[in-house]
Amino acid sequence: MKIIRYVEELRQELKTHRCNKKVISFVPTMGYLHEGHLSLVSYAKNNSDVCVVSVFVNPTQFGPNEDFNHYPRDEERDIKLLDKENCDYVFIPEISEIYSEDFSTFVLEKKFSKILEGEFRPAHFEGVTTIVTKLFNIVQPDFAVFGQKDAQQALIIQKMVKDLNIPVQIEVRPIVREVDGLAMSSRNIYLSKEERKEATILYRSLLYGKSLIERNEIDVDLIKEKIKDFIKQSNLAKIDYVEIVEKDSFEKVKFLESGKAYFILLAVRIGSTRLIDNFVVQVS
Ligand code: PAJ
Repeated sequence: MKIIRYVEELRQELKTHRCNKKVISFVPTMGYLHEGHLSLVSYAKNNSDVCVVSVFVNPTQFGPNEDFNHYPRDEERDIKLLDKENCDYVFIPEISEIYSEDFSTFVLEKKFSKILEGEFRPAHFEGVTTIVTKLFNIVQPDFAVFGQKDAQQALIIQKMVKDLNIPVQIEVRPIVREVDGLAMSSRNIYLSKEERKEATILYRSLLYGKSLIERNEIDVDLIKEKIKDFIKQSNLAKIDYVEIVEKDSFEKVKFLESGKAYFILLAVRIGSTRLIDNFVVQVS
């Protein structure tokens, strides 16, 4: 595996592969890798000739009061893990390699970036779409792999690629969970022992929501209220939102319809750690 820190160097390496008609896959990450990230890398590796992973904690997607400075980083460990997955290139640029001092061009998706996560993190998705566009332009992969864990992010990237005719296929892979159901996340490291135990409330409340739907509850407001009440049993949990939307359109609905699929989406703070999770439910 080659470790690359400069845009030009990566471009030169990949040019050769492209000329040789190799299929190039790409997995963007912010590092501090876990099994969730590695499942994307494994999928990318198994379906391409050349697999590129980026590790870059992107400053523009963090709000002024968010955890950019504290975001966990462990380059050495990330490199070892990626090497084990037989990744071909890991791209680890410095901030200055990506954002010059006079940087002034951003990419903004205007519809889905404003709802849900976008309401609580106003400039977040603009930072995400900007860095992902830059990385796509640098790597020019045939396909890129994202996790369902960040369902809204995956939707926005798909929309951006379609709207801007970016020639990259987007693959979305399932959420990888800990044994007790907690969705893997680099931010889980912030949780104290007690908070870590309580954090399963997200998964348990999603299971509860799913069970209501399986018992033919179709009133969305009622399902949301019941899920919220369930989460409120934990006195460490503070709800940012509980939402149910149509799976493909992310549109809100009042009543669930049979034959359709929906997302139940959650953002909950456990102590000072903000966690997100979701389930897809199919209404029979
Ligand atoms: P990061 O949070 O590091 O996540 C990188 C990728 O891993 C994302 O596509 C995310 O959805 C996926 N992922 C995270 N946890 C997962 C889990 N438990 N199971 C499956 N996939 C999981 O998302 C970002 O970084 C950034 O916003 C980025 C796209 C790299 C742009 O900076």
